[in-house]
Amino acid sequence: MKILVTGGAGYIGGTVAGLLIEKGHKAVVFDNLGHGRRDLLPAGVEFIEGELADRRALETIFVSARNENQPFDGVLHFAALIEAGESMVRPEVFFRNNTASTLSLLEAMLACGPKQLVFSSTAAVYGEPESIPIQEDARLVPANPYGQSKLLVEQMLAWLNRIHGLRYASLRYFNVAGAPEGPEGVTRGEAHEPETHLIPLVLQVPLGRRDRIMIFGDDYDTPDGTCIRDYIHIKDLAQAHILAMEKKRDTASHYNLGNGAGYSVKEVIEATRRITGHAIPAKVGARRPGDPPALVGSAEKIKRELDWRPQYPDLESIIQSAWEWHQRHPGGYQD
Ligand code: UFG
Repeated sequence: MKILVTGGAGYIGGTVAGLLIEKGHKAVVFDNLGHGRRDLLPAGVEFIEGELADRRALETIFVSARNENQPFDGVLHFAALIEAGESMVRPEVFFRNNTASTLSLLEAMLACGPKQLVFSSTAAVYGEPESIPIQEDARLVPANPYGQSKLLVEQMLAWLNRIHGLRYASLRYFNVAGAPEGPEGVTRGEAHEPETHLIPLVLQVPLGRRDRIMIFGDDYDTPDGTCIRDYIHIKDLAQAHILAMEKKRDTASHYNLGNGAGYSVKEVIEATRRITGHAIPAKVGARRPGDPPALVGSAEKIKRELDWRPQYPDLESIIQSAWEWHQRHPGGYQD
């Protein structure tokens, strides 16, 4: 397959682009390098710098590929802003970046591109679920603009499928963490600037980059009062994209991508203490606006339909993998 990977210079998109190459496919990364790193692109990946909102640029890419008799088979669409907390402060930026810009991509695909898409959606489309683990047909009421910006794309996709036959799989990620490779040749891990995600932030304490971790609220309606999330290893997540692109070519579908097991913020901190051997002081602070108390997804559908088999289903192996990477890169991508 020949695949266009938007946002392919980032943590998740770059990992999937690498896996495509490993599996013998062609990957062309399209990224504005706003957050991505060109120097970390896996060997064999072609790179084009550009803005997702630039429909003409995308059309040129699709038409040139067709003229060279090497048309694209599909698009893996990762490019997006991802911080749910930030979206509660600047919602318009999320709707512009994640929703409006995606429409440019979809228009370009309909005009002259492939008619097959795998979309990076999010568990944030569910908002505060009525029951757990969440099934794909649960109510969709996002609790923050980030989730809403992705849900709007899912809704556009459903109509484009019905009216134009655009085929897609929407993968609703739960909390992605870990590093893609083992100790040898590790290049890409989870390190954002600024960092907002729990596991890399907790690891900054044993790394000496922060004195303690703040727990955003311990008065939620959960067993220990802190928020519960379902963590998934980046390698397992990446694998699911390949399966969705290879196997699901006929229709419109939505899949949860999690492990079906929830861990509280306190449990993540406790597991990290065991793995790192560091005391990791923690302090309870205020709730972060837009945080649902518990997000745990059932992944039975993707296991059943795409034969997805996670290799790292437990929290400890996910944190262990992140810890190995962060020890090699204690300043994130700065070193
Ligand atoms: N948290 C803390 N302290 C911190 C950072 C986070 O207590 O310093 C808490 C948050 O309040 C939340 C939990 O840890 O309860 C996880 O927070 P993250 O920021 O790591 O992740 P989110 O659950 O907010 O969001 C992530 C992705 C989204 C995705 C979502 C799906 O960023 O893109 O998971 O579950 F939609």
